[in-house]
Amino acid sequence: MLLQREVIEDAKKLIQDGIAKNFETKTSSGSSKNPICIADFGCSTGPNTYIAMQYIIEAIELQYKSHGLAAPEFQVFFNDLVANDFKTLFRNLPPNRNYFGAGVPGSFYGRLFPKETLHFIYSSSTLHLISKVPKEIIDKNSSAWNKGRINYANAPKEVVDAYATQFQKDVETFLHCRAQELADNGLMALQVGAAQDVILQQNIYPGKDIELLGSCLLDMAKVGLISEEKMDSFNLPVFFSTTKDLKTIFERNNDFTIERIEKLSPKSLFLPDVRMFVLHRRAVFEGLIENHFGEGIVDELFDRFMKKVVESPDIMKVTMLTLVVLFVLLKRKPRT
Ligand SMILES: C[S@@+](CC[C@H](N)C(=O)[O-])C[C@H]1O[C@@H](n2cnc3c(N)ncnc32)[C@H](O)[C@@H]1O
Repeated sequence: MLLQREVIEDAKKLIQDGIAKNFETKTSSGSSKNPICIADFGCSTGPNTYIAMQYIIEAIELQYKSHGLAAPEFQVFFNDLVANDFKTLFRNLPPNRNYFGAGVPGSFYGRLFPKETLHFIYSSSTLHLISKVPKEIIDKNSSAWNKGRINYANAPKEVVDAYATQFQKDVETFLHCRAQELADNGLMALQVGAAQDVILQQNIYPGKDIELLGSCLLDMAKVGLISEEKMDSFNLPVFFSTTKDLKTIFERNNDFTIERIEKLSPKSLFLPDVRMFVLHRRAVFEGLIENHFGEGIVDELFDRFMKKVVESPDIMKVTMLTLVVLFVLLKRKPRT
């Protein structure tokens, strides 16, 4: 999702405040033998990750200073999927950084670090990307078969439920893995894209833009540019839970205390221009589309999508109105 500046700024203040109130210098030694270890899960290629890592480090340094302690050393781990462009990420690392950087490729829906080795975990705009499309969605014999659509938007209840169940499992797996990797009293700051709890108008719902993209694929299937079978077996692994359901998942977890949980939404209705909007969607979905349909359809697909967005620019407003970011700061309970 396209994060707006105001939301990024609000999250930054919440993290700085959370570190000031909750980061424990005693348990996270920070000596050269034992540096403070920070990990960004789903870091992408920058620059957002550089900005976040910098203000997290500055806030932790301030903690050490205010306790009269020497500044610690920092190790930052940048995680993303193996296919991420780590070359670009490392090429553009800020030259004046005061941390050691390392890449950790792999899915965050599994363990990526040894037990109790991290002191601060950060992840922004990642958990709406579920680990896989639920299998019943593409099973012709299932009541959840999602024919003619590429996501759960405007789909029957069975489809929405299958996506929601997968999302819940994934978030629980993520929390379980991170609970093992985080040291006692370590902090985890998550920014999760979520759907507004109440949808005020029937034709305004999350994922309407994905539905529009799906309609372009349908058009292409109708004129024979892609096969209907390929179309019906394609679904995007993206799910925006309501903030209410998301809170319930965090509250049910026993390994962390919730130090802060807040809904962040832009105060003004900033609309990107059509080109930027389409380019953003293309950047997010291009890889998945190419993997499924092969190269050669992406330009045509996004040209068609661009035309449809120009015809109904309100689609961009719908995204802004229906999606928010849920900020949550969790603290690892000490092991007994
Ligand atoms: C929308 S981008 C957010 C990037 C960055 N965190 C930010 O806030 O700008 C989502 C990132 O999560 C990564 N990602 C998605 N699923 C992942 C997984 N299972 N494990 C690790 N990274 C994942 C994607 O590759 C992508 O780089």
